[in-house]
Amino acid sequence: MTDRSLHLVTLVGSLRKKSYNAAVARALPDLAPEGMSITPLPSVGSVPHYDADVQAEGFPESVQALGNAIRGADGVIIISPEYNYSVPGVLKNAIDWCSRLPDQPFRRKPVLIQSASPGVLGGARMQYHLRQILVFLDALAFTVPEVMVGGAAGKIDEATGTLTDQGTRDFITKQLKAFAEFVQRVSPG
Ligand SMILES: Cc1cc2nc3c(=O)[nH]c(=O)nc-3n(C[C@H](O)[C@H](O)[C@H](O)COP(=O)(O)O)c2cc1C
Repeated sequence: MTDRSLHLVTLVGSLRKKSYNAAVARALPDLAPEGMSITPLPSVGSVPHYDADVQAEGFPESVQALGNAIRGADGVIIISPEYNYSVPGVLKNAIDWCSRLPDQPFRRKPVLIQSASPGVLGGARMQYHLRQILVFLDALAFTVPEVMVGGAAGKIDEATGTLTDQGTRDFITKQLKAFAEFVQRVSPG
């Protein structure tokens, strides 16, 4: 149970229909403590490739919508795969657009990072690159506990796209509770 009601939004770094990371994101509302709501942001695929010439003519509506949804939330949960030991280009592109918006939406915004991978490290290296990006954005990145879902293929039901592994679900519940305390501590309601 949170002391005040919290509205969090999820940003998924994969466009794949059967994405493991999207499956983790879909599981979050059920795992959240009472008083915390979690809804998805628009897809990172909804924004065009970053182009300063396009920006000079005005921010695309899709970018403004993404920025407004982030500004309106108490915190952002970024759930992303690791590509070549780093952040997928589609996610970085969406973040790059947001970083150019006036009233930059990530500034002083609590951010929680999660990742899933078929590999054993669960996308850990992506998380540390993302943390570096969040420094420039002046976001408030939550630290521990970390959620890195390794061996994701055995923890997500392929047919239904449901996160079925109970140990992972329990650990995410623990992390969300800790993040709720962090949000209430670092950002006044
Ligand atoms: C271009 C590319 C690079 C990848 N690099 C990594 C990597 O560095 N580490 C890793 O654990 N998995 C890597 N993978 C495998 C992804 O973790 C795997 O495809 C995963 O299912 C992607 O996440 P999703 O299911 O949410 O789409 C890579 C996949 C692609 C397509």
